[in-house]
Amino acid sequence: MTGLFRQIFGDDPEAAFFAPGRINLIGEHIDYCGGHVLPCAVSLGITARVRYRKGTTVRLASSDLPGVHAVDVSAAVVFEKERGWANYPAGVIMCLLDEGRRLRGADVLFSSTLPQGAGLSSSAAIEVLTGAIMLHPVEGEGFDRKALALLCQRAENAFVGVACGIMDQFSVALGKRGHAILLDCATLEHRHVPFDPGGLSLVVMDTGTTRELAGSAYNTRRSEVERALELVRRKRTVDNLVEATQEEIEAAVDDPVIRRRARHVVSEERRVRDAALALERGDMKAFSALLNASHASLRDDYEVTGPRLDAIVEEARATGFCAGARMTGAGFGGCAIALVRSDSLDEFFARAGEGYRRRTGIEGRFFAASIDDGVRKLPNAPGM
Ligand code: GLA
Repeated sequence: MTGLFRQIFGDDPEAAFFAPGRINLIGEHIDYCGGHVLPCAVSLGITARVRYRKGTTVRLASSDLPGVHAVDVSAAVVFEKERGWANYPAGVIMCLLDEGRRLRGADVLFSSTLPQGAGLSSSAAIEVLTGAIMLHPVEGEGFDRKALALLCQRAENAFVGVACGIMDQFSVALGKRGHAILLDCATLEHRHVPFDPGGLSLVVMDTGTTRELAGSAYNTRRSEVERALELVRRKRTVDNLVEATQEEIEAAVDDPVIRRRARHVVSEERRVRDAALALERGDMKAFSALLNASHASLRDDYEVTGPRLDAIVEEARATGFCAGARMTGAGFGGCAIALVRSDSLDEFFARAGEGYRRRTGIEGRFFAASIDDGVRKLPNAPGM
């Protein structure tokens, strides 16, 4: 990587940073409804090699794609279509400048082990990573992680145009090895819950299809639940949709589609609370059943799974080695997760892979994931 950095920028990097991707264990599509979520950071992620520079130019390159994108940190930064992926870091730089921060020039080379558009939050990873890199000369590693997560969410909302919630950026910024994060998205209070699944392993199942429709369908779901909130509020004052009961939704919402969306939100909130308790008790049977129920609700009520996610989840369950499985992230393609007997991982990969291929003609990717820390500076190493 040092070789490539030198080739692109004519010098060697002086520091390296890493931001993980995230898996959401449970609590899907309720972060923007003031709900609780239970995500974690994973060991796959994005590494950045960096050399800080005199002057005000930040040059951004990727080891996977050609081109170098320059951003001037002394002037207003605007979205530029031709900038492609580099709009994510540019958006974060824009938001930092908006806060009145003075930023240094830098050369940055990103390289990723995260499948892109697969629902493991490669966008949140590059956003939070950019923030950590830009803040480092001023604040070292003592920066406010919660504030950075919020800033990166703003960058994605305003600059990239996806009305995402706070879950992904928060997980990337505040992940902790071996722990899930129980996050209240209404207050941003959180606590780390040990994830100790006994004889089970956490497996990621990539359907091999990206989430093309995700942006627009995601924003549609958001407006549907906003409509549901408006209708519930005609009967009772609530801050967030998760506070409503199923009975209140039945009474307030006539439109069957909006009613199903709201039903998912309220039932998923209950499942997250139960799942956190099950995890704390070490009751993986109850936890796994909640994963299965979450998938059913996302398939039938929220309608964000689609045939491929449904196929990979069903094939995983049919292997006989899987305790529970569900889609993770925004849906419409991307990844699912499963809890699988650790003594049968290889057989699970073979059987689930074969079943998924038979049903869809697509080669899925399966791997065991480990839960890791949030964004960090890497120790300086030779050959960095
Ligand atoms: C995407 C968004 C998150 C969250 C999930 C669905 O990953 O970025 O904020 O809404 O979808 O749970």
